[in-house]
Amino acid sequence: MKSQEGKARVLSGMRPTGRLHLGHYHGVLHNWVALQEKVDCFFFVADWHALTTHYDEPEVMNANIWEMLIDWLAAGVDPDKATLFIQSRVPEHAELHLLLSMVTPLGWLLRVPSFKDQQQQLGNRDLATYGFLGYPLLQGADILMYRATGVPVGEDQVPHVELTREIARRFNHIFGRDSAFEEKAQAAAAKLGKKVARSFGELRQSWLQNGNAEAKEQAITMLAASANIGAEDRARLAGYLDGGGRVILPEPEALLTEASKMPGLDGQKMSKSYNNTIDMRDDAERVSTQLMTMPTDPARQRLSNPGEPDICPVWELHQVYTVEEQRIELARGCRSAGIGCVDCKRPLLDAILREQMLLKERARPFEEDPALVRRIMEEGCERARVVAEETMREVRAAVGTVYQ
Ligand code: TRP
Ligand code: SF4
Repeated sequence: MKSQEGKARVLSGMRPTGRLHLGHYHGVLHNWVALQEKVDCFFFVADWHALTTHYDEPEVMNANIWEMLIDWLAAGVDPDKATLFIQSRVPEHAELHLLLSMVTPLGWLLRVPSFKDQQQQLGNRDLATYGFLGYPLLQGADILMYRATGVPVGEDQVPHVELTREIARRFNHIFGRDSAFEEKAQAAAAKLGKKVARSFGELRQSWLQNGNAEAKEQAITMLAASANIGAEDRARLAGYLDGGGRVILPEPEALLTEASKMPGLDGQKMSKSYNNTIDMRDDAERVSTQLMTMPTDPARQRLSNPGEPDICPVWELHQVYTVEEQRIELARGCRSAGIGCVDCKRPLLDAILREQMLLKERARPFEEDPALVRRIMEEGCERARVVAEETMREVRAAVGTVYQ
């Protein structure tokens, strides 16, 4: 299945980290829910990706996958609108990863920023592995498999989408070559004259293999300036510049997802690594205790001390949950010592609990019927496999592993 009539197709994956928190809900998941209304969406559990760093924890994967999927569904991700699947249940991903690896220069992987960054950040793990080095390429295979036009990702993942584009370009260049076209293009290039033809060839190489956009511009200028070729040859050479053949794997674009502004229980960004999260389906008792003991402006030792919302971590949460009118009132009460912190926290707690109640209600049918969740995933995997198989048939033919 090609993207239906050129309709945009979006693919994104999430590592199975288990239960998701409100930062995920207000960030990534809201974005997914909006996207599924507009474009053809593929969302998947990146279980192999989790193994590239956490290969020593195989026992947690199973529970993590289903809990995360229930959170997706609770957030409103709709299996009738988006295709949901698990990476390892579509083994074609491994096959494409392998085939892409044949033409991936080692240097490209070594210079992906996350390779060194993560080795340092996760210093307690041994990440000097082949799997970890190849992880951005595996991501490339995930994306190219579905011929995704857009990939919603956070800023840290943009270099991986960039790499994916470079790999696609190189793959198409090597395997999409059309020999008749190539011959004509070379004949046209010869007309440019020896010297110009040679530098055109070098610039083309630099664009196709290194993604050097400046080189492409120079080559186009060179074509425009040549008096030796006619319009037809000029158009032919412009096409040749972009690979000169069939596009087997189209280049995707990164769709930058705005960084989550959701604050955690300490005013810092909500993140598992800061230990400041509220889970989407968190226990109401726990949320209540955590919020009520959350630090506020330290100047407010007693009720009669005025405070300053701008330096209070609780206030950050009010920005997300409270309408402006009420915020103005609360801020006035804080600054004039007219209200206490408990009065200020109460409406916030109510708003969070209300939101969670809705999420829990939507999650319940899935929590109560694990078979339903398995079925949703199985159907999604089935749909994903159909698309993946189609891409792989073309890829196998292109790399020459179809034997008759
Ligand atoms: N690497 C992503 C992460 O760690 C997850 C991921 C894997 C992904 N494959 C993908 C995201 C493909 C977008 C597209 O968060
Ligand atoms: Fe923070 Fe509200 Fe207390 Fe002011 S009243 S310090 S904003 S919790």
